[in-house]
Amino acid sequence: MNVTFRQLKVFEAVARHLSYTRAAQELHLTQPAVSMQIRQLEESAGLPLFEQMGKKIFLTDAGREMYHYSRTIAQQLDEAEDVLEQLKGVQRGHLNIAVASTANYFATRLLANFAKQHEGTTFSLDVTNRESLLRQLENNEKDLVIMGRPPEGMDLELEAFMDNPLVAIAPPDHPLCTEQHISLTRIQQETFVVRERGSGTRIAMERFFNEKGITLQTGMEMTSNEAIKQAVEAGLGLGIVSIHTLELELETKRLVVLDIDGFPILRHWYVVHRQGKRLSPIAEAFRQFVLTEAKGFMTYG
Ligand code: PGA
Repeated sequence: MNVTFRQLKVFEAVARHLSYTRAAQELHLTQPAVSMQIRQLEESAGLPLFEQMGKKIFLTDAGREMYHYSRTIAQQLDEAEDVLEQLKGVQRGHLNIAVASTANYFATRLLANFAKQHEGTTFSLDVTNRESLLRQLENNEKDLVIMGRPPEGMDLELEAFMDNPLVAIAPPDHPLCTEQHISLTRIQQETFVVRERGSGTRIAMERFFNEKGITLQTGMEMTSNEAIKQAVEAGLGLGIVSIHTLELELETKRLVVLDIDGFPILRHWYVVHRQGKRLSPIAEAFRQFVLTEAKGFMTYG
């Protein structure tokens, strides 16, 4: 198959966005230039890679296969580009990181401070839950990931850099707020608003209560910490969140951390990348920054 890197790069962008227009914008190309690269690639492949239905385009089976390989190649090329830039002594670069939704409460601040020291570097930050982070690691899509401890058995390099205590929260007028040493059996009478399946917070919470033989009454399920906090404030139930999500609510006394036996549930934050991945100089610098500076950005925990 006679394929150029350029065609693969263009294909990868079109397949990721499922849009010629957005791929053209990202690559700073015209739309006809993008269409031409795709046509040439389809000719070399001998199969159509996209199909059009109405205004939308979709990957064909051949397109999906090609997407799998083109992503890996594009990632490797980016890595090569970063390493070569470094060899040329160029300070610029691009850092592509992903963080757990819960880590975003400090990761953005961390990144902003790092960025001030590295003018000329560009950044992309994806904020998503644990399940999706594990998928991104598996596909080698990011330079670095900040998350709770990944499961054993994946080829990853990880280093812990900070505690992540999970606490139970209630609105200030809740009767449990004035109690101390609340027993786990007592909280079985309460309803909890919980994070979605696939969230690290949710997994840690379930594991904790299972180990203690406690069955919690769970009410609404929500996909963000912000939604959980709002729901608890509104009286929809108690919640369990990382202390790192709470700075503002604790300062303004809109939420109270309950004194429950066995709490907080102790987790840690890790900075993670694929084993054998050659980190670009900027990614390595950010990793070091996280390991040494992260704690300084926290008021609680
Ligand atoms: P979450 O991640 O935002 O998916 O709950 C936090 C974690 O992994 O502890």
